[in-house]
Amino acid sequence: MRCAVVAGTGWQGAGIATRIASAGWTAVIGSRSLEKAEILVENLPDFVGLPAERFEAATNEDAVKEADVVWIVAPSTGHKAVLEAIKPHLDDEQLIIDVTAPVDPENHLNEIWPPEGSYTAQTQELLGDDYDVVGAFKNVSATMLLNHTMPPNSDILIVGDDLQAKHRVGLMCKQMGFDGYDVGKLEHAPQIEGLTRLMIHLTYAYHLNQPGIKLVELSRGMEILPDDDLFERKKK
Ligand SMILES: NC(=O)c1ccc[n+]([C@@H]2O[C@H](COP(=O)([O-])OP(=O)(O)OC[C@H]3O[C@@H](n4cnc5c(N)ncnc54)[C@H](OP(=O)(O)O)[C@@H]3O)[C@@H](O)[C@H]2O)c1
Repeated sequence: MRCAVVAGTGWQGAGIATRIASAGWTAVIGSRSLEKAEILVENLPDFVGLPAERFEAATNEDAVKEADVVWIVAPSTGHKAVLEAIKPHLDDEQLIIDVTAPVDPENHLNEIWPPEGSYTAQTQELLGDDYDVVGAFKNVSATMLLNHTMPPNSDILIVGDDLQAKHRVGLMCKQMGFDGYDVGKLEHAPQIEGLTRLMIHLTYAYHLNQPGIKLVELSRGMEILPDDDLFERKKK
């Protein structure tokens, strides 16, 4: 499978490309500058210990041509510009995965939200209803993504309006080493996008290294189980 990683020359793009390659697919790292993408593609395979032939460099516009899946890994401030640049080169058979979070690149404790309410919604509105847009990988750290041989400390929260597209991303998560969970429709994207800034806050406040979000189920067979009339007013 061929995956374009648009605006992929930052840490998160390098992490997503690493997980794509670890799943055995091809990561085409896109940039506004071909040379910048080429430098990353020269260095990343050795850094993460994966075969060089699974990484390619391209401009953002060229990266999306022929791609099966298009990952948008732009910072909040460049998200719209990046989408407008690639839009003429996309086709509606491609699955679009939006990774952008509402974090201010100048100050990670500040948020920048788009008028559409979330970056996933901005992508869906800009591309139109013919495109399957899914928001995912917004709360997992770049370091966790790069460390592809370690067991993950994070699950992947997936949002979007197309059920099949979300299922496909869920399967991709598995192959990339993660458990993915469908957490609802596109209207829930602000919730998962907002979590990223909370994670950054926790990181600073508690001097954490790479916190992750994991769904933990209460085990079955617990001793105290809810009683049917536990909350009913006792009749005199
Ligand atoms: N880093 C993390 O651990 C992490 C975790 C969760 C979510 N995220 C989210 O993932 C996204 C990417 O994170 P990142 O840390 O990799 O971001 P980044 O390094 O700030 O940006 C990624 C790439 O975007 C391009 N870019 C920057 N400004 C642009 C602009 N104004 N217009 C168009 N392109 C621009 C640059 O590539 P070129 O110069 O090569 O074009 C840059 O290398 C962000 O939305 C972030 O909030 C990051």
